[in-house]
Amino acid sequence: SHSVIKKICCIGAGYVASTFTSPTSPPSCPKNPDVEVTIVDLSERRIQAWQSDDLPIHEPDLLEVVQSARDAIIEGRKPNLFFSTNVDQAIKEADCIFVSVNTPTKTIGRGQGRQSEMSYVEAAIRKIAEVAEDDKIIVEKSTVPVRTAERMREILAANCRPGVSFEILSNPEFLAEGTAIKNLLTPDRIIIGSLNTAAGLSAAESLVDIYATWVPRNRIITMNLWSSELAKLAANCILAQRISSINALSAICEVTGADIAEVSYACGLDSRIGPKMLGASVGFGGSCLKKDILSLAYIAESLHLPQVADYWRSINDINEYQKDRFSRRIVECLHHSLTNKRIAILGFAFKKDTGDVRESAAISIVNDLVSEGGSIAIYDPKAPDENIWYELESTSPDIKLLHERVTIYRSAHEACVGAHAVVIVTEWDEFSNKTKAKPLPAVDATTPPRTPLATVAPQEGYIESKETKPVAGRVDWAHVATVMRKPMYIFDGRNVIDEVKLEAMGFRVEGIGKAG
Ligand code: NAD
Ligand code: UGA
Repeated sequence: SHSVIKKICCIGAGYVASTFTSPTSPPSCPKNPDVEVTIVDLSERRIQAWQSDDLPIHEPDLLEVVQSARDAIIEGRKPNLFFSTNVDQAIKEADCIFVSVNTPTKTIGRGQGRQSEMSYVEAAIRKIAEVAEDDKIIVEKSTVPVRTAERMREILAANCRPGVSFEILSNPEFLAEGTAIKNLLTPDRIIIGSLNTAAGLSAAESLVDIYATWVPRNRIITMNLWSSELAKLAANCILAQRISSINALSAICEVTGADIAEVSYACGLDSRIGPKMLGASVGFGGSCLKKDILSLAYIAESLHLPQVADYWRSINDINEYQKDRFSRRIVECLHHSLTNKRIAILGFAFKKDTGDVRESAAISIVNDLVSEGGSIAIYDPKAPDENIWYELESTSPDIKLLHERVTIYRSAHEACVGAHAVVIVTEWDEFSNKTKAKPLPAVDATTPPRTPLATVAPQEGYIESKETKPVAGRVDWAHVATVMRKPMYIFDGRNVIDEVKLEAMGFRVEGIGKAG
């Protein structure tokens, strides 16, 4: 008895919008030939980029997916994926509107640096209220504080045209950058939250139908609206908590001779813990983990739960400590002075397979090294120069000095010429001298493994293999050794280097969570 969604509008053409582009997701799914998706944004530039071959974001397989939607006409299919700046028209025509705009941390006013900035969501909601001429399902896709739907409902009720009604659903996005297409094709789960009313449950069923065309039914979970809103924040905070836990342990490893990769491996084999998100690093980055922890902590504080707020904030504190510890280690190894020293920074993106540099650990590390007097040579395969400069300039204490000391290069080899040290900040495959890490054998808590665990040899896991052949397209470390200054330091912020091999070439490798 629930309504059938035919026209979808997605407000906000950023990373999350990529969810709406896949051939098997609503836009062009063969099982959904009648569903049309229009992705809208206020930014003309972003929309133009989505219509070109130079997409606004770098994401593996995304261009192929967008192209397959563009090929619809050629292949005699009805085109069903559109990009536009005409927000009003797309809202008017849609029966379901996804709000996928940014919700960064506030930079002004009360709650600055702590609370989520909801003005973009609110502007989108007000726009919907203003232009909608018939009933709509509105879906919160952006990550929002718990009970946001209630505030949005008030705004809609106070501003909508007479006789028009809205149902608000929560359908948080769980994609990770660098694996967006994979995540959306085979999601772990789809969460749909609604009010427990006839209208709410019916709207949820309409959305379930869309996802059910490519996601197994038992992975589509419906629940109460507030649980769904909170589950999104909770998941990101728990993921960040795992990284901070392992990073806090890495500090203990560095002074005791324990190796964090082995500690992580040992813990991850416990099926209750599991191996993912336990990789020690220079610190987590990205636009969401830190902001979502701040948001959850702020919510706790607003609810007069200061101990809860402190607990979550400590995860960000450990992350700041980890980044700072890494910078200090570099300066200490280089005899407490970087004057007249050149440091190559390999990778600026917050993780591999994305060009996104928001909150990347590279930002504070470069600023720290510049203020210690170093000259910095940056290379990243995908991060746009203008975004690197934007992040550095907006955090630098001295922009003139920044431009005197920092240069961006087009290859890792160029960046390393004359360097006293190489710092690996992003785990791009091209920097690694290990063969591709193998996934850990699955240890499923519900079905006992066929092979007893004792027969799973450690090398089957994510500890490095002993392969020695150089891999095409990767940094040639033997060549780097001929262009660097001695002693040749590598600070490996991602443990992508097999130090035994490079130390044999004369490098000194300082990894995270390994005694130097
Ligand atoms: P983004 O900054 O890449 O894109 C947001 C877009 O919304 C921008 O292009 C902006 O111009 C547009 N916009 C803002 N206000 C608008 C308005 N009123 N009308 C039309 N367009 C408007 O953001 P993102 O990374 O895609 O994240 C969006 C939301 O999804 C955030 O709440 C984020 O926390 C959440 N999220 C992000 C990811 C991720 O991997 N990036 C994953 C899961 C959830
Ligand atoms: C994260 C979540 O993983 C997604 O599920 C969520 O949808 C998304 O936030 C969001 O809400 O935006 P993302 O930030 O894109 O995704 O990437 P992650 O893979 O979570 O990595 C975050 C940071 O942690 C990166 O800097 C990464 O290098 C670092 N990391 C990750 C580690 O240091 N160790 C690990 O073991 C894993």
